[in-house]
Amino acid sequence: MAFPIHRPRRLRRTETLRRMVRETTLQPSDFIYPLFVKEGRGERVPIASMPGVFNFSVDTAVEEAKTARDLGIPALILFGIPARKDAQGSEAYAQDGIVQRALRALKDVVPDMQLIADVCLCEYTDHGHCGVVAHGEVQNDATLPLLARMAVSCAQAGADIIAPSDMMDGRVGAIRSALRDAQLDTPILAYAAKYASGFYGPFREAAQSTPQFGDRRGYQMDPGNVREALKEVALDLEEGADMVMVKPALAYLDVIAKVKERVNVPVAAYNVSGEYAMVKAAARNGWVDGDRLILEILTSIKRAGADLILSYHALEAARLLDT
Ligand code: PBG
Repeated sequence: MAFPIHRPRRLRRTETLRRMVRETTLQPSDFIYPLFVKEGRGERVPIASMPGVFNFSVDTAVEEAKTARDLGIPALILFGIPARKDAQGSEAYAQDGIVQRALRALKDVVPDMQLIADVCLCEYTDHGHCGVVAHGEVQNDATLPLLARMAVSCAQAGADIIAPSDMMDGRVGAIRSALRDAQLDTPILAYAAKYASGFYGPFREAAQSTPQFGDRRGYQMDPGNVREALKEVALDLEEGADMVMVKPALAYLDVIAKVKERVNVPVAAYNVSGEYAMVKAAARNGWVDGDRLILEILTSIKRAGADLILSYHALEAARLLDT
């Protein structure tokens, strides 16, 4: 048998060597940690489908934020769970809304962290849709001013970055111009390619945002489409977005890679609730090594092209990277 000249195994022999030639590495600064904030004090309510994830009251959210900061995580994304919901989602843009209060408290205690406000109405509407509803349909243009109001009120409360996740057409432009009118120059991280996905199930339990009728296929993207993702990304950048996101991450790694090839802005990917829940469920059953999967999954998302990864695993991943 001929001697194989090419032996890739030569560079796999020891951990030191493997570390030297590793193409993709994770750091805590890659992560954005999602936090769910609710009314109350001293609360830390577990979410059944997402072991390790909680609904926090503002005071305990601040404690969790300090832990994240101490682990080197640079940013949080906030989701509000209001005490009251109505058809217009008015708690989303109330001066003293739950997210606005959380932003002020966090800015005070962890001023060095980047606070990202998820801008969408679904957690705040009684029907659970991401926009206002008339004649049984989510109304695009009537929703835009409400999203813009929410964005401005979050920025005024201390949000460093605005992240619209609603998938209404023209929302980035509406938010950009409302911010400008309020003399704010806040960066926008657009959920540009957000798919209508079964992987959001556990989030909807956490945020109590399951649509009361129908589903989100009329505004979120069809899972079969990738060229359309590039179109959404291009539109959001034209309208004034500074960064773009692909969501979910794992079933859409090809989309992340294609977007990354096309744009010159940072690309984020959302390692969503269902992706998290699957790992936790399998690990609890002893079917997989959870810690190992977490790092492998996050590495794959970064390797696909994500510069930033939104993940419920952020704290545990930062701890694993430290050991
Ligand atoms: C709100 C929003 C959702 C997620 C982030 N922002 C839910 C949805 O669109 O139904 C999902 C995040 C996750 O599953 O972790 N529009």
